[in-house]
Amino acid sequence: MEYEESGWYRFPSPFKEAGLKKLRESVDEISRQERPEVVLEKNGNAVRALHGCHLFDDTCARLVRLPTLVGLAEELIGEPVYVYQFKVNLKQPQEGAAWPWHQDFAFWSKEDGMAAPHAVNIAIFLDDTHEDNGPLQVIPGSHRLGLIEPSVDEQGKRSGDWRNHVAADLEYTVPRPQVDALLQRTAKRPAIGPAGTVYAFHPSIVHSSSDNRSMDRRALLLITYNAVSNAPAFSPRPEFLVSRDASPVIPLADDVL
Ligand code: SIN
Ligand code: MN
Repeated sequence: MEYEESGWYRFPSPFKEAGLKKLRESVDEISRQERPEVVLEKNGNAVRALHGCHLFDDTCARLVRLPTLVGLAEELIGEPVYVYQFKVNLKQPQEGAAWPWHQDFAFWSKEDGMAAPHAVNIAIFLDDTHEDNGPLQVIPGSHRLGLIEPSVDEQGKRSGDWRNHVAADLEYTVPRPQVDALLQRTAKRPAIGPAGTVYAFHPSIVHSSSDNRSMDRRALLLITYNAVSNAPAFSPRPEFLVSRDASPVIPLADDVL
């Protein structure tokens, strides 16, 4: 199966324009609120990301229960799943900053105590995404290396501050020599496509994205489904980053937002 082999996979989109419009409206409305779930870029006031929206916004709550998405996650993981994380990375025109090369599983294992990468990211494009607005890019097959010991900071110290897990100067990155060695063997691939495109990618795949220097916003919505049997016992991070409720998602009756 392509996902097992390469660690990512483009899935036929279940979204219609009306559903995407509803999601964009929720994102715009939440972006105007001042709350800890809304994170700004370090330089300036541009909204960088929204977190845990499925816990307080009706449209996002319905989204995580769409039968197609839940079915996809269960098929890839092979077990009942719950929503571990929900975020929207916004990359505002000309202001959205990069995400350095990293593996998500580094954060989930080291910060939250997740035992195994029995989770999957479902990425949904809310905007048309092209080479110039900072698309997510992956190194196909890199998930098969397992966890690559990350660089932490110059002193090798952990900050214990969740803000360093969502900022452009990310806390756990794949060391540059390893990234260069991987890129010598395998070309990086961008996740591009029209709004509504859906990709699944593995917790251990090495991925990044560059600054958005274009005039087009690039909103990427990410739902992480984790196997119910893989729920960590305790995370010190806020609930809007790491769900406490590990009960299986109950899919809706249909795929309508
Ligand atoms: C991005 O929004 O470009 C990065 C997403 C991620 O690291 O999961
Ligand atoms: Mn990531």
